[in-house]
Amino acid sequence: MPNALSRGLFNLFFGARRKAYASLPGPAPGLLGNLGDFLAAPPWDVCARYGRTYGGVTLIWMGPSPALVLNDAALIEEVLETRRLEFEKGNIGEQIRHSTTDDTPFIAKQAEDWSRKHAMDPLAQPWTPAWEAAQVGPLQAAVAESVEALLREPSIDLAPALRKLTFDAFCVATVGEKLPTSVYDDFMLLAAAADARIQAKLPLKFVSPPKGFAAAKERFYGLFAEKLRAARAAPNPHRVDLMSWTLREMPELDDTVHAHLLGGFFFGGVFSSSTTLVGAFHQLQKFPEAEARLAAEAAPLTNAPLTLERLREAPWAEAVAYEALRILPAVRIFLRTPSAETRLAGVTWPAGTMLMISNQHLHRDPSHWTNPEVFDPARWLDGGAEKNPLGSGHFFPFGRGPRACVAGSFAMVYLRTALMTLASQVQVHVDSTEPFEEGFFFGVVLPKGVTAKLRSRTSGNVQSFIRARSSPAAESA
Ligand code: HEM
Repeated sequence: MPNALSRGLFNLFFGARRKAYASLPGPAPGLLGNLGDFLAAPPWDVCARYGRTYGGVTLIWMGPSPALVLNDAALIEEVLETRRLEFEKGNIGEQIRHSTTDDTPFIAKQAEDWSRKHAMDPLAQPWTPAWEAAQVGPLQAAVAESVEALLREPSIDLAPALRKLTFDAFCVATVGEKLPTSVYDDFMLLAAAADARIQAKLPLKFVSPPKGFAAAKERFYGLFAEKLRAARAAPNPHRVDLMSWTLREMPELDDTVHAHLLGGFFFGGVFSSSTTLVGAFHQLQKFPEAEARLAAEAAPLTNAPLTLERLREAPWAEAVAYEALRILPAVRIFLRTPSAETRLAGVTWPAGTMLMISNQHLHRDPSHWTNPEVFDPARWLDGGAEKNPLGSGHFFPFGRGPRACVAGSFAMVYLRTALMTLASQVQVHVDSTEPFEEGFFFGVVLPKGVTAKLRSRTSGNVQSFIRARSSPAAESA
């Protein structure tokens, strides 16, 4: 809370502005408005605290400008769904397009090019569910192989380790093979460049790209363009990766756009998916019965190639994924700004007003959830998932409405496959079950300092399984 002098100065200079918003509750602003709150704690914690203290609508001040924090499910539905065309995603496009390219629907303008970009996204096609189903086996094999390599490490930093494991699995899902580590290094350099712009305290014109940025970008997207050229030159009807599937179904898609979308897949999914896995294993360590149940469920299903049908025989793995997405959602802050003056929550807001939406408070709202602070996958069984479907008022880890995650369904397939593969192969012994520090990278929560030891649960059968999956005959099966 700003001191009396700071509050007095705010009122002296900007007090007249407060009158229009007098109906809304919120913390007293100081000379910098309420920015001090956001300097002291992660934005999702601040938004959740406002929700607990002031209810569904909180008026805050970003310096002299009013802003709104929403923790109200009905108003969030208005902004993200029913009236979504009135609200843009702020300046995220300016922050990340140098790294992600302009072709990703993630930064498309609602009122301008989103529909067109969404319509040509391979992840939003009628055939996308068939592609997703075909990824389960390849993702399992990719994760199993990465885990074998991690087993050689005495101790691992879980966030970067699972990030690389996820990157490698996504290479298989997108282009059908793991790519050299140098490609991962280029990807991380591009992501770090975007993150520096997202987190910049200075105007973006003062934020320089890191050394080697242009070359890394050319190499990263150039690699997908090269893979496309090769796949067009020698089409293989048996390949199930996204690139091959898209070439078959959408041969008219421009190769440059296609290469950009393949590269963009990694920015959309690697950080969010791996953070969710870290959260899941951190919670499972705290609740050994839940962890033992996951391992027991996974063991008989994973000793042969997994399929979507076999995943469906593993409701506990799905419940663990849902519960990790509820209690530790990887994407916790959604920003929106009205493109023109608008009325919301009974008040008129100028164009460009910052609206902050967080799922953290609603995902743990005690008036909605029983024991909300406890990791309890059982809440998702016996009709639990139907009561709180993805994208509903109190559960929206992938966002809500038409701009919700285009790959939410794929992400669920990946999380269930990765959880089952890891749990059957190793016990992930996390060193501390104390809450971990949460940083922020590329708009996604970044768990810090979560170290773990992997203990093998299996003997040689995983090795022979990996060899079997890696054989050309198995690939085309
Ligand atoms: C656990 C994993 C994931 C989580 C938690 C997650 C979360 C989200 C959220 C919350 C949004 C909406 C943001 C907003 O409304 O401001 C979103 C959008 C998006 N996500 Fe994901 N995501 C995940 C995985 C992925 C993957 C694997 C991809 C791969 C392509 C992806 C690509 C996208 C794209 C392209 C959008 C923008 C959709 C649009 O605007 O039409 N995400 N994601």
